[in-house]
Amino acid sequence: MSRECTFLVVGGGIAGVSCAESLAICASNASILLLTECSIVKSVTNLVPVARYLHKFDVREKNVSELGAGITTIVDQLEHINSSEHWARTKTGVVIKFRYVCLCTGGAPKLISSRQEQHADRIIGIRDTDSVLELQRRLASAKDVVILGNGGIASELAHELHDVNVHWVIKDGHISATFVDPGAAEFFQLANTETEGQVDAAATAIKRMRYGELLPRQEEKLQLQSKRGAALGPDWHRNYDLSGGDGGGSPKLPKVYYKSHITQIEQSPNGSTLQVTLKHDDDSEQPEQINCDFIVSATGVQPRHDFTTDVPLELAEDGGINVDEMMRTNLCDVYAAGDVCTAAWMPAQHWFQMRLWTQARQMGSMAGRSMAALHDGETVYQDFCFELFGHVTQLFGFPVVLLGRFNGQGLGRDYELLVRCTRNKEYIKFVLQNGRLRGAILIGDTDLAETCENLILNGTDLEPYGDDILNPDIDIEDYFD
Ligand SMILES: Cc1cc2nc3c(=O)[nH]c(=O)nc-3n(C[C@H](O)[C@H](O)[C@H](O)COP(=O)(O)OP(=O)(O)OC[C@H]3O[C@@H](n4cnc5c(N)ncnc54)[C@H](O)[C@@H]3O)c2cc1C
Ligand SMILES: *[C@@H]1O[C@H](CO)[C@@H](O)[C@H](O)[C@H]1NC(C)=O
Ligand SMILES: *[C@@H]1O[C@H](CO)[C@@H](O)[C@H](O)[C@H]1NC(C)=O
Ligand SMILES: *[C@@H]1O[C@H](CO)[C@@H](O)[C@H](O)[C@H]1NC(C)=O
Ligand SMILES: *[C@@H]1O[C@H](CO)[C@@H](O)[C@H](O)[C@H]1NC(C)=O
Ligand SMILES: *[C@@H]1O[C@H](CO)[C@@H](O)[C@H](O)[C@H]1NC(C)=O
Repeated sequence: MSRECTFLVVGGGIAGVSCAESLAICASNASILLLTECSIVKSVTNLVPVARYLHKFDVREKNVSELGAGITTIVDQLEHINSSEHWARTKTGVVIKFRYVCLCTGGAPKLISSRQEQHADRIIGIRDTDSVLELQRRLASAKDVVILGNGGIASELAHELHDVNVHWVIKDGHISATFVDPGAAEFFQLANTETEGQVDAAATAIKRMRYGELLPRQEEKLQLQSKRGAALGPDWHRNYDLSGGDGGGSPKLPKVYYKSHITQIEQSPNGSTLQVTLKHDDDSEQPEQINCDFIVSATGVQPRHDFTTDVPLELAEDGGINVDEMMRTNLCDVYAAGDVCTAAWMPAQHWFQMRLWTQARQMGSMAGRSMAALHDGETVYQDFCFELFGHVTQLFGFPVVLLGRFNGQGLGRDYELLVRCTRNKEYIKFVLQNGRLRGAILIGDTDLAETCENLILNGTDLEPYGDDILNPDIDIEDYFD
């Protein structure tokens, strides 16, 4: 069995589908083959520009047969690539000859450790719709669940699991989320609670803080934990009922084990549960034991490339395939995009990689345009979207815009925050360094996205304006028009 194509795209996630779709536009006469191991693919719909660098869109799952004209598909798994002879082989033995190939194989959940393989059926990695369904099915009879990880997904799970005892094991000294800081989390929590007797409910507060004041104090942490209902991350769990078997209905608070990690996992003597041993970073504390039905590992995903190549692919420290600004790997005519790759080019001052739908889409179409240009002997430049980090999402019904170094990423301790918060309405955070805007979080209908883009890219000195840049009586947009 053999196939032939000009462009081979591997993977049916956002990166692969965006790559194939941009090839269908830029190289409409060439043959494009999408190889995907699953007949359901992800695609971007309802794309709406929010500002120059920001787009909002929905991700829909669709049947591969519904993909646009010009894209042929094959449902199978990639097993091997011979880059020098330009062919690939699938698991079922189909040989595909190609001129160019783009690897968009995404990521697989990081599990605790390969040593724990014997308990694999009780350790669940959260990755996608499939694994959430699996989690739901298994939790139907669970009493105790251990959650491992301190990212956005773990934070959400810890808040969203009902009717089950949650033991949340985190390596840090405080709970945190990938997308929002503790201030924004509190904004969401207040928006979710009743406003009885709150005279100043709509009052606007403005606050300027130095780096050292940013870490939440112990009692604030406890307060955050004891209020249920406000999860921190993207709302992927909304469509699923994550209830355990305990049935009682009264919400239980997660028990948090700070600065801890799992040292041992054993089957309990009667074989029905797992005994988890925790070690606290602080050596003086006794190791702790937890009995649980399951361990949910939400420690993130790891780039997935479980196929072989004739010449080794160059990998980054995080396990991703290194790509340059044109999305080229070290192998001739082999490209990569999305979660599987690591940006190995010298990044622009206001951009960094974060494994999100936004970047999977941007990288996928960049790879497509780059391959098409090479094929047509044309020159293409890196897309301007890689100049500025931007992500648009929706949390608890509020629009959320993240721009630049929105959590002070890579700024060390040398930055200030300026926050304006109006309950139930908006939360605006400016990250300032040397008086210049380096990043922003905009929650609510703030209309500030484009202004912030300009302020960040132009490096406008905001020092002369002081706290006035967030004064609600002054229209920032007019200020800089
Ligand atoms: C639980 C969870 C929630 C998330 N929520 C959000 C969110 O709300 N917003 C956001 O922006 N981002 C979110 N992310 C991140 C986002 O999902 C990823 O950044 C994005 O999906 C990456 O797209 P991709 O196309 O690179 O990879 P993937 O979506 O992982 O797609 C890879 C595809 O390749 C296929 N594949 C892999 N290996 C092979 C092979 N050998 N042969 C054939 N096919 C293969 C896979 O089956 C899959 O279809 C979330 C991630 C997780 C884990
Ligand atoms: C594509 O093919 C059509 C008909 O075969 C031809 O008219 C058109 O010029 C081609 N386009 C490109 C970009 O080569
Ligand atoms: C996708 O569509 C094809 C043909 O239209 C069908 O045979 C297949 O079962 C569909 N797959 C899913 C998962 O719905
Ligand atoms: C594949 O590639 C390698 C080196 O790149 C080459 O030596 C080998 O003969 C190729 N063909 C096959 C069938 O393995
Ligand atoms: C099995 O043993 C554990 C403690 O080791 C206990 O918590 C659990 O309830 C027991 N289960 C059954 C079914 O006996
Ligand atoms: C910033 O740059 C944009 C676009 O280049 C320009 O339109 C705008 O006037 C500039 N604003 C300031 C405050 O310099």
